[in-house]
Amino acid sequence: MSVSAAAIEALMQEHRTFAPSEDFVRSARVRDNSLYEQAEQDAEQFWAEQARHYISWATDFDQVLEWKLPFAKWFLGGRLNVSYNCLDRHVQAGRGDKVAFFWEGEPGDSRVITYQELLDEVCRTANALKQIGVRKGDRVALYLPMIPELVVSMLACARIGAVHCVVFAGFSAEALVDRITDSGATLLVTADEAWRRGKKVPLKQNADRALVDVKHEVKMLVVRRTGGEVEWRQELDSWYHELVPQQPPLCDPELMDSEDLLFTLYTSGTTAKPKGIKHTTAGYLLQAMYTHDLVFDIQPDTVYWCSADCGWVTGHTYIVYGPLGNGVTSVMYEGAPDFPEQDRLWSIVEKHRVSVLYTAPTAIRAFMKWGDQFPGRHDLSSIRLLGSVGEPINPEAWMWYRDKIGAGVAPVVDTWWQTETGGIMVAPLPGLLPLKPGSATRPLPGIFADVVDEAGKSVAPGQGGYVVLTRPWPGMLRGIWGDDDRYRETYWSRYPGCYFAGDGARRDEDGYFWFMGRVDDVMNVSGHRLSTAELESALVSHPAVAEAAVVPREDALTGQAIIAYVTLRSGFRERAELAEELRAHVGSQIGAIAKPRSVAFTPDLPKTRSGKIMRRLLRDIADDRKLGDTTTLADPEIVKELQARAHEERYSSE
Ligand code: PRX
Repeated sequence: MSVSAAAIEALMQEHRTFAPSEDFVRSARVRDNSLYEQAEQDAEQFWAEQARHYISWATDFDQVLEWKLPFAKWFLGGRLNVSYNCLDRHVQAGRGDKVAFFWEGEPGDSRVITYQELLDEVCRTANALKQIGVRKGDRVALYLPMIPELVVSMLACARIGAVHCVVFAGFSAEALVDRITDSGATLLVTADEAWRRGKKVPLKQNADRALVDVKHEVKMLVVRRTGGEVEWRQELDSWYHELVPQQPPLCDPELMDSEDLLFTLYTSGTTAKPKGIKHTTAGYLLQAMYTHDLVFDIQPDTVYWCSADCGWVTGHTYIVYGPLGNGVTSVMYEGAPDFPEQDRLWSIVEKHRVSVLYTAPTAIRAFMKWGDQFPGRHDLSSIRLLGSVGEPINPEAWMWYRDKIGAGVAPVVDTWWQTETGGIMVAPLPGLLPLKPGSATRPLPGIFADVVDEAGKSVAPGQGGYVVLTRPWPGMLRGIWGDDDRYRETYWSRYPGCYFAGDGARRDEDGYFWFMGRVDDVMNVSGHRLSTAELESALVSHPAVAEAAVVPREDALTGQAIIAYVTLRSGFRERAELAEELRAHVGSQIGAIAKPRSVAFTPDLPKTRSGKIMRRLLRDIADDRKLGDTTTLADPEIVKELQARAHEERYSSE
């Protein structure tokens, strides 16, 4: 397991517990165990009740679950539309004037968008998509900054039954090529440029470059964000601001089957090819709404802010589908947390009186580093609850978050889940469970998770092992786009009948889960998933590189940092400039988040006699730990050389 002994020990020493305050409990949504009990007694009945409570159905379902392992279908026979559930029904109930989004642009512009306005814009955009030729079942790629048009485009797809594939705007043209090709998207919605820390990121230009390498025809719908110059393909490109406003603000929602595809989202696995994770209509929407409602303890006057990007699953579920399904008022922010200053988040919290904030440990650790004076400048008294997601949260960060942002009283809900799970799986119900800093507590009602050993047996209290989900759940992935075998192999082959999450965890005496990180060749950098294979293939695509191995190093800020070990082809010299060039190369192949922290050259990589790279040893070297078993090494000299070099020669530019 790629989990360090030190980390486990640190977690084991954490004994503090924090019960919710009386004040919090008084208005908490869940105050007793009945949901856990109902779900335990009859999980299908439980989910059926939740589905009828949360979703407005055009046609009620007649079967709750069909489970042909590993393929699940939920709420069979049901018909619904997700955008209707997120918009129309709130407007019809008289809440059209309620704010859906307080949107803050990075340069300081802002918009307030009500549910009625959002509905109108979604209908217009849906009509525009139809005019462009998009039909039910077609895939639409979205490559947009965090502007309202991104949410609108997602919902417009959902309205007409098209499948959206959001590609994080920080990804490169090359990453876009793979995703458009794999999904077969026929339309790409993008923007002229994006703002990032006051600089312009050329999205349309990236998209133009990407489409040169895509074999099929792809049209573009382009939002004008910065007004920067762009190239134009007369026949294939349309401006959003020309096409959308002229459309009628009415568009009948397409009636979808529960199991119709809602979206695919690409995520890194253990091979170089990203997986297009499939999520369908009803089960996903239910998982999003139910978890959002209860984990964040939504109240009628909640002002909720998830600071993620819609390019990741967190943005899908907890910026778009959960909050809008629940008719909540949200904040949406376009830019970086330190622009123009390191108090940007806190000034937004103060401005909109945010009561629930959901962010990532890596951000929290950055806030700690920047200093208490930044939150200290602002009135954060509106905060009632705090959330964390994306990676293990260390107890120090948890305490700082509660103390400095939550005035020492706000519950901090650590939420464990994955792109594949669709929504939160393990997290506290904050009015009920006492919290322990660093623990995501227990599986939610209706979710059945376990920690097992190599043989698949539940571990004893206090022991660590592998995380599995033992029963299907409504929001579970329905497969990998175009690759059922990989779906079976990745998630369902290790422990018969169980979903293998790829995470390690320890479970304590109270049944609380303490997640410890990935157990496979997947890294987690600032809460973002990156595959070692994907990084390595980006490196070897550079003409100077013969072979590359990439491992994570523990990092106080980003959780893990990427360390690359590279052997060069003959004729290339080990130089600091080349190391820098390789970092930039990976950035251009995948995206800036994938740039290695450091690139170390080596005459060879440590390998077994059968030629397999021993990444385990490289991890030990990167973390400056005592080496594990080296007896299977083909050439033991190599690791000695690498250890020696690690001390003297580490090229880094950060
Ligand atoms: O390793 C776990 C980690 O993030 C992985 C899922 O990444 P992704 O699909 O990109 O989704 C991120 C947002 C849900 C998991 O396998 N992870 C996520 N949340 C936590 C976490 N690790 C520890 N604690 C968490 N709360």
